[in-house]
Amino acid sequence: MVSIIVPTYNERENLTPLLERIESTLRFLEDYEVIVVDDDSPDRTWRKARELSEDYPLKVVRRKDERGLGTAVVCGLKESSHDVVVVMDADLQHPPEKIPDLVSEIKEGVDIAIGSRFVEGGDKGEFGFFRRLMSRGADFLARTLFRRIRDIRDIQSGFFAFKKDIVGCTDLNPIGYKILLEILIQADYDEVSEVGYKFGERSSGKSKLGVESILDYLRHLWSLSKRTGEISRFFKFCVAGAVGTVLNLVVTFMLTTSGLFYFFSGAIGIEIGLLSNFFVNKAWAFRDRKISGHELVGRALFRDHVVRSGGILLNLFVLWTLTSLLGFYYLISQMVGIGIATLWNFGGNKWWTWEK
Ligand code: GDD
Ligand code: MN
Repeated sequence: MVSIIVPTYNERENLTPLLERIESTLRFLEDYEVIVVDDDSPDRTWRKARELSEDYPLKVVRRKDERGLGTAVVCGLKESSHDVVVVMDADLQHPPEKIPDLVSEIKEGVDIAIGSRFVEGGDKGEFGFFRRLMSRGADFLARTLFRRIRDIRDIQSGFFAFKKDIVGCTDLNPIGYKILLEILIQADYDEVSEVGYKFGERSSGKSKLGVESILDYLRHLWSLSKRTGEISRFFKFCVAGAVGTVLNLVVTFMLTTSGLFYFFSGAIGIEIGLLSNFFVNKAWAFRDRKISGHELVGRALFRDHVVRSGGILLNLFVLWTLTSLLGFYYLISQMVGIGIATLWNFGGNKWWTWEK
């Protein structure tokens, strides 16, 4: 038995064909209910939906106080009565004929089955250049922030099925469109699979995706980063860096005043700073990665040196480019360089140094 959640905003014309296609697909296969969550559409989609609920197993929620695809799905989830949930758009860009494939994945034990444009049998349909570019950028950002989704091809999909109990006690707080991303990052699941489908043409009306959704997406990523602790990890990483820098200066000063040539004191200072960074990060910022044992720690230490050497080169490159090519004051260039190198070092630590 499945609950099919369909968020709508001005989709009046699409509801009838949508329900017809769902019905003819599932009639002999599955008991189902459709839950339309409409945000008080000016075209009165909700009214049309209520009419259709005489002929189809359809529940209609008309939200008057809130808008947004993501929260609409969360609202539909609360109204749903079955253990397997499917989320799909109303405009027929997601083919209802694929619902059985998604659902059978779940029945075979998968926790989340994603309708995917980027696996075998998938097709991304007609996408303009601009939208493709945005989609790439959006993907890249999310993948850099969250390790958990790195093996999933279509993280932006709006067509998917899942077991309801994986979101049991999780607070879902999506902002904007990406309810799947919210679930992939916050829910408690083991197995994900992807089922190819062709992203069709919109059958009627127009897309609501606009500039505002880009901002929403960034806000959503920020909120997820806070909730998953990635922001605080970054802060810890910076504090570790600051401690290392102070130590570097103190060691350089002490060795030099006790007679060592400043250049050698500096080199030792750098290495001490590096080691201090490393161990503070090991015990604090990257504690959850649980790196221990001579071999793993040694490898991480080696990797950290490689990453940070790259950071120094990057810093120098920025310093030179901004100062000599673009005419910035050298200390400004250096500050920008430090900022960029910090991001590089953090990325390197997050994606490589502390990997098992
Ligand atoms: N309740 C509600 N409230 N529904 C909304 C809202 C809203 O504020 N905004 C959009 N919807 C509904 C639309 O009515 C439609 O049924 C569905 O959400 C998708 O909206 P579209 O405007 O058609 O989105 P799209 O076609 O540009 O993008 C879709 O496909 C992408 C690629 O798979 C979405 O599903 C994206 O999430 C997805 O990434
Ligand atoms: Mn659409």
